[in-house]
Amino acid sequence: MGDISRRSFLTGTAVTAGALASLGIVGCAPKTAPEASSASEAASEENVRAHAAKLNPQVETDTAATGACPSLFTEWTMGSLTLPNRVVKSAAGFIGVTSQGITGDLHMQHYGLLAKGGASIVYCDDFAELYPHFRAIPDVGKFVDWKEEELTAFVDNIHDNGSLAGYQLATMGLEFSGFQPDPTAIFQSSDCMDMTAQEISDLIADTITAAETLQRCGFDCVEINAAGENIGQTFMSRNRNKRDDEYGPQTFESRTRFVCEVVRGIKERCGKDFPIQVLINGVEENDKNIGDNALFTTVEENKAMCKLIEEAGADSLHVRIGPCGQHVAEFAGDLYFTGYGIEGTSGYGTQFDFQRHWQGMLKADQSGLGIMTKVAAEIKKAVSIPVGAVTYMDPARDPEFFESLIANGELDFILMNRPLSVDYDYLKKLEEGRLDEIRPCTRCMHCHWDSDASGNQIFSCRTNAAHPFRFASGQLTGGYEPEPASTVKNVMVVGAGPAGMEAARVAAQRGHKVTIYEKDGSLGGLLEFANNVKGPHENLAVLRNYFVKQMEVNGVEVVTNQEVDAAFINEKNPDAVVIATGGKRASLGLSSSNGTNVVSVEDFLTADIADDVVIAGSNVQAIDTAMYLLAQGKHVQVVTPSEAGAIGIGHSYWVRTYTQPTMKALGVRFWPKASVNSVGDGSITITTETGLEQELACGTLVDATDCLPNVELAEGLSVDVYTVGDCARPFNIDEAIFSGNAAARQI
Ligand SMILES: Cc1cc2nc3c(=O)[nH]c(=O)nc-3n(C[C@H](O)[C@H](O)[C@H](O)COP(=O)(O)OP(=O)(O)OC[C@H]3O[C@@H](n4cnc5c(N)ncnc54)[C@H](O)[C@@H]3O)c2cc1C
Ligand SMILES: Cc1cc2nc3c(=O)[nH]c(=O)nc-3n(C[C@H](O)[C@H](O)[C@H](O)COP(=O)(O)O)c2cc1C
Ligand code: SF4
Repeated sequence: MGDISRRSFLTGTAVTAGALASLGIVGCAPKTAPEASSASEAASEENVRAHAAKLNPQVETDTAATGACPSLFTEWTMGSLTLPNRVVKSAAGFIGVTSQGITGDLHMQHYGLLAKGGASIVYCDDFAELYPHFRAIPDVGKFVDWKEEELTAFVDNIHDNGSLAGYQLATMGLEFSGFQPDPTAIFQSSDCMDMTAQEISDLIADTITAAETLQRCGFDCVEINAAGENIGQTFMSRNRNKRDDEYGPQTFESRTRFVCEVVRGIKERCGKDFPIQVLINGVEENDKNIGDNALFTTVEENKAMCKLIEEAGADSLHVRIGPCGQHVAEFAGDLYFTGYGIEGTSGYGTQFDFQRHWQGMLKADQSGLGIMTKVAAEIKKAVSIPVGAVTYMDPARDPEFFESLIANGELDFILMNRPLSVDYDYLKKLEEGRLDEIRPCTRCMHCHWDSDASGNQIFSCRTNAAHPFRFASGQLTGGYEPEPASTVKNVMVVGAGPAGMEAARVAAQRGHKVTIYEKDGSLGGLLEFANNVKGPHENLAVLRNYFVKQMEVNGVEVVTNQEVDAAFINEKNPDAVVIATGGKRASLGLSSSNGTNVVSVEDFLTADIADDVVIAGSNVQAIDTAMYLLAQGKHVQVVTPSEAGAIGIGHSYWVRTYTQPTMKALGVRFWPKASVNSVGDGSITITTETGLEQELACGTLVDATDCLPNVELAEGLSVDVYTVGDCARPFNIDEAIFSGNAAARQI
């Protein structure tokens, strides 16, 4: 696609303010877009950032950021602990892996690498529930079932690797006597309304006993999770808590009584020097019914409650975003940005206006980078204990911002999860200013409940193929770091998309002599195109830059403008060849008419697009194209041979949960199990699921039919051949990188 950016494309099409007005997404988007004061203003770059519909203007994130954050690497104290830097690894459930036991190799290696990575405290997840029946995560054991020797070994591993160990005491998913199970719900948890007074007292007592056990086993601190939909949050929330006893919502004291009694009890039992962090929703909003917020916790209420939590003895606060009506509270700051041009999508087909919702307190102008920082900084004004914030706190993306945050004392520390798991050496590289060597988290959410091309439930990481679940499920073998090759081989990689570059990176890292050939003039395959269509929120341009740098760092020889064929491979005679040439574009085989332009998806950015668009296909490329055109006020329909449930497969479960309601709210009509038959003059004819022929208004038909495998080059070669990525099975980046990694481990 060359260098056509979304900006220049939009400027070229000169979307007017009037066109933007048609973007009315259900809920809070203004009914009409602000009028431009002059024709030239209407056509200006700022105005044509349609979505914007002027609602949530974005600052482009610098994809090639440089610089350092020295203040992040300064000492601070949390209670009795003196910590070497301002980065804390937040707790994250190790879904699908804890069944092997907390001292299982995968668990221990992962936490060892995290600790070695240099975060000042590594909090581990609630890998043991205090109570049973967490149906969402069947392999989570009961706390009392873990042996103290195992907990001790787990902590020793973190200590031996140079970090302190924290344990999150979460209280989500407990089924108390008043719990009404919904057999269809994946995520359903008890709230304070399900609890008798005795159950409250038991839970407090059990939590305190658990903390005592953790301290005995060597943990340096604990965190009380009172955010998301955890029990502590339900007590603090006037929306959830309707109790009429002393734990009810009547006063700040009663709302925080549960959390404060846990904190006080732990301090009494473990001593005042045993540090406790409390995790809260910093500010709440209602995703499900935007604007229906009367009972949701405000920043001011939190300031009052945090004072009480501090008085009870808490040593630090961890501030997170608090959306209600969506479980994925901690990722809302990412998922609100899945629609490039319609920032603020809530997952219910509604849209937040960040100037007005969330008390206007979110920092939402850089695709959510540091989204909670303003809220946390405000809460910090009310307390004297350290305050940190979480969610897309990724200093490598804007070092100056994070530097000023700490240097100016707005926050005391930052909490990170995914970026530190995607690249265990993140902090070392950050401190040394080697930002282009950091493997980025692309905020895609494959790590949190996802399915593969065959619909199997998986947990993976798009950019770090060596995700523990890949090993636990037997998809990958070996260690997180691939073993050095026993025999050094000449390896040829054909195609420099994500699959080919991951294969080249890993093969070279293992010691092979690797040359990668790319027929285009630059590296990255479809990543740049995808980035232009999807916008910056997924960091795909950063991912491309990372891979390019990895070729240099690992000594991969790069040859561009070289199309490889069988004769070329035979001439070079490598020991092994990895074919990563991407999928083959399929086509509907239909031609344009006078009134209807048929455009291949790969050309749509530079084509004239009519107001009535039909996208043929529902793979990731098709859906992203549809979202892009929607953001320009086009009327979009999607005709696909796939079943309704398979629309958008390849995007993660949570991304689909956010994009599809948005599309539907913006009037997209999906035609599943349907086919396009013919092109008329300003229309097309399709056969619908019911077998009826139907005419759809269509000025532009974007042919985004699923790509086909592209393995001809591999046939007939006499060397060791591997086919990876879209060329073997067109699907997505996660699969491309994983298959490239897996192949390179076998050479
Ligand atoms: C608009 C759009 C949106 C997308 N959205 C998403 C998304 O949300 N999530 C997701 O996971 N994926 C998405 N994708 C798909 C994703 O980009 C691809 O699945 C991924 O890039 C496949 O990687 P690959 O390395 O297998 O192939 P490619 O990225 O296609 O790279 C193949 C490379 O091989 C080169 N090549 C081909 N033949 C030869 C030859 N004979 N000799 C030398 N070089 C050759 C090509 O020039 C190219 O650089 C999107 C793609 C597009 C276009
Ligand atoms: C797979 C996964 C599991 C998680 N489990 C927990 C958890 O058990 N407790 C918790 O407080 N947060 C959990 N989180 C949220 C993270 O701690 C963190 O808030 C979130 O990933 C946002 O931070 P990041 O942008 O740095 O990743 C989880 C995140 C992921 C990806
Ligand atoms: S799957 Fe995506 S969001 Fe999750 S850690 Fe990996 S890159 Fe980040």
